[in-house]
Amino acid sequence: MRKNLIAGNWKMNANHLEAIQMVQKLSYRLDLSDYERVDIVVCPPFTALRSVQTVIEADHLAIRLGAQNVEWHDKGAFTGEIAPSMLAKLGVAFVVVGHSERRQLFGETDDIVNKKTRAIIEAGMTPIVCVGETESERDDGHAEDVVESQLAGSLAGISSDVLRSIVVAYEPIWAIGTGRTASADDAGSMCTFVRRQIGSLSPDAAEDVRVLYGGSVNPGNIAGLMAKRDIDGGLVGGASLDPDTFASVIRYWI
Ligand code: 13P
Repeated sequence: MRKNLIAGNWKMNANHLEAIQMVQKLSYRLDLSDYERVDIVVCPPFTALRSVQTVIEADHLAIRLGAQNVEWHDKGAFTGEIAPSMLAKLGVAFVVVGHSERRQLFGETDDIVNKKTRAIIEAGMTPIVCVGETESERDDGHAEDVVESQLAGSLAGISSDVLRSIVVAYEPIWAIGTGRTASADDAGSMCTFVRRQIGSLSPDAAEDVRVLYGGSVNPGNIAGLMAKRDIDGGLVGGASLDPDTFASVIRYWI
């Protein structure tokens, strides 16, 4: 049985003081049954990780800490970068890797995503590997080809026993921050496709890997998405910035 997972990707929003308030407010709106049903993850900017970690520890919250990016080298002359071991030491459990904004704006290739994914695993954390097509790729009928090649490149050489514990997020680029969600049927069938591709890399891993949908997830569309067999949760951007709204997404069945 795969446990559902809902992760808030705060992107470049919230200083550390705001982040403390956000995670505290979120925790007030959740109860034990929420944590039992769903793994709840927040991914603040790097500068807020330590503050949010302190709140999580001090208040004994079951909210898990995530980071939005990482460098794959472990140390050295990489000015401005953050190593996997630094995140692990901070109690970071999940790391978003290969987000389309990093691929498009910061030139992250599948090869880099693969190196980062391996480094995250090596450091004992769980990667949330993002894939997804552009609008024109979808219009041209290439959405599955794009996702297939992103998965093959990003997950190359990862052994099946490790592959089963990773998280993949399908985020169609045209649905990110646009208010245009993929229909639950389209999102569901692409997540089925993702699981099938994982199965072709490792038959054993396919049923265990958690596949998330991301792209304009909100309290109004989450239940329909979660009803799909192969969608195990959401990677939520804008709707995770307001604790009330994010709590409504997390408590989608109520
Ligand atoms: P939005 O939910 O704001 O569309 O962002 C999705 C996303 O990119 C999450 O990583």
